[in-house]
Amino acid sequence: MQAIIGTDIATASQALHKGELVAIPTETVYGLAANALDATAVIKIFEAKKRPSFDPLIVHIGTKEAIHNYVTEVPAIALKLMNAFWPGPLTLLLPKKSNIPDIVTSGLDTVGIRMPNHTLTLDLLNTINFPLAAPSANPFGYISPTTAQHVVDQLGNEISYVLDGGACTIGVESTIVGFENNIPTVYRLGGISIEQLENVIGKVELALNQSSNPKAPGQLKSHYAPRKPFYLGDVRMLLEKHKASKVGVISVDNEYTANNVIINKVIAPHKDLQLAAQQLFAVMRELDNNTEIEYIIAEIFPDYGLGRAINDRLQRAATI
Ligand code: TXA
Ligand code: MG
Repeated sequence: MQAIIGTDIATASQALHKGELVAIPTETVYGLAANALDATAVIKIFEAKKRPSFDPLIVHIGTKEAIHNYVTEVPAIALKLMNAFWPGPLTLLLPKKSNIPDIVTSGLDTVGIRMPNHTLTLDLLNTINFPLAAPSANPFGYISPTTAQHVVDQLGNEISYVLDGGACTIGVESTIVGFENNIPTVYRLGGISIEQLENVIGKVELALNQSSNPKAPGQLKSHYAPRKPFYLGDVRMLLEKHKASKVGVISVDNEYTANNVIINKVIAPHKDLQLAAQQLFAVMRELDNNTEIEYIIAEIFPDYGLGRAINDRLQRAATI
């Protein structure tokens, strides 16, 4: 099989109805989607990504109201968040109904659910009569895709159709919030910042442990990682340390001109963190694929707003 790239919702819908995988655009990253209510279709996602079965999937819905079909309870704080941020880059962990197969949630009682903010995918979701389970459309552990071509480059043989919705506008995955004991808790930093959440519901807890046996595998210590050695920290010091090697640099708004710098991607001119998030994964891929470059070095981003999600991805990408 070689995936076809296109913008035809009917083709995507037909493939999904047949239990096939379709890559879908969202505002965060591209997803690898299957009918969330069909366990046999969902298994194909795990196979295509080589994803361990302990890593649950996010379920995507086309309207806010649809949430009541798949969860038993929506606490008042969750409702506030839905009203503030959906459609958008926010996933809620809520107690699942029995129509969501166990494979989707890796046997957990909660399901991760969100309404993505992308017209094509919302049109698709509102054409089909089932929700879509979709993790990021990359091989497990590698950098997430933010264009249709990224998906085809790595999973082209596993998917029949890639719905092309252009480059993702947010560029990092959704923020994941759970409500255990009625305390809003962030399990993964993402496209909605802590500041934005707290403006709506007040103080939130953070549970962002880096572990090898996490509650949310977005918490895996090594994730989002390029193949090349990747170092994060003071760029000047790292350049000095690796002066015998050819490096690619990802920086905030400084330019680095040492002799061994092959490419320097300045991704947040004027500290524009939204622009940085949008480009982050594409730039990591570009440097990883550039055959001249031996190492990738990245600068630490400002520790507020989207900068925190960016630093989280860079830390997990970093070689220990
Ligand atoms: O922005 C996004 O969220 C993208 C787009 C495609 O929607 N999806 C995405 O999926 O990032 P994925 O599978 O790469 O990451 C989903 C994360 C995983 O770390 C998973 O463990 C966590 O969500 N998750 C899903 N359901 C969960 C649950 N019931 N409890 C705890 N964590 C859950
Ligand atoms: Mg992922």
